[in-house]
Amino acid sequence: MAAMKDIRNIVILTGAGVSAESGIDTFRSEGGLWEQHRVEDVATPEAFARDPDLVLRFYDMRREAIQTKQPNAAHFALAKLDTEWPCELLIVTQNVDDLHERAGARRVLHMHGEHLLAWCTACDVRSPWTATLIQRPPCPECGERALRPDVVWFGEMPYRMEEIYAALREADLFVSIGTSGAVYPAAGFVRNARELGAATLELNLEASQGTHWFDEARHGPATQIVPEWVEEMLGD
Ligand code: APR
Repeated sequence: MAAMKDIRNIVILTGAGVSAESGIDTFRSEGGLWEQHRVEDVATPEAFARDPDLVLRFYDMRREAIQTKQPNAAHFALAKLDTEWPCELLIVTQNVDDLHERAGARRVLHMHGEHLLAWCTACDVRSPWTATLIQRPPCPECGERALRPDVVWFGEMPYRMEEIYAALREADLFVSIGTSGAVYPAAGFVRNARELGAATLELNLEASQGTHWFDEARHGPATQIVPEWVEEMLGD
């Protein structure tokens, strides 16, 4: 791995593992979310067309749940790095919770959308949303009852890919935190980063599916290994 002093620009990819110790279920671990619900029953456009009540109720439950959770030491450490890092830094998160922001991070990009936004399929406007959608409330913008969760489902294009690839092109270091490496395109970022000459680091509870692509991998709970890494980066 390149010496820390050579690193200027950083791209950090986060996944469900960074929020696990805040009490938000991951997707693919034992007892995880998809075990109670098959992915294709709740997280595809086809599921929404077939049984909108099931899908809206599921996301209403998740939206309500995240509002009772608090950021953990990993979120706070990343927020500190964001605040203090003098060069380019981008936290690309697959998470639809707002725990990075509530910990104080600013340079955050939600590639899979956000629980706390509702997207009007009639007028295309996104509105801040903390309540439920099951009763088909009207869009605050156009009044149509056509709101859906602003969450990227399987088969839909993740958001802001151009910005992500632009950041990867400039990156000296790519760090993947708390993600299983099972879902593309995010799972492919490590290879893009490598090809573009960045150093690569995995921080995860266990080896991810793509662990062999990383220059270095550290395994342990995010609340321990992320603050340790941030301290190294900031030279605290
Ligand atoms: N600290 C660090 N890592 C952890 C912790 C923890 N406390 N707990 C779990 N992990 C790791 C798991 O070992 C696993 O590798 O986090 C990873 C979580 O993987 P997934 O559940 O697959 O979540 P993620 O990679 O974010 O999923 C990607 O898939 O379902 C879609 O759109 C959804 O954004 C999601 C995407």
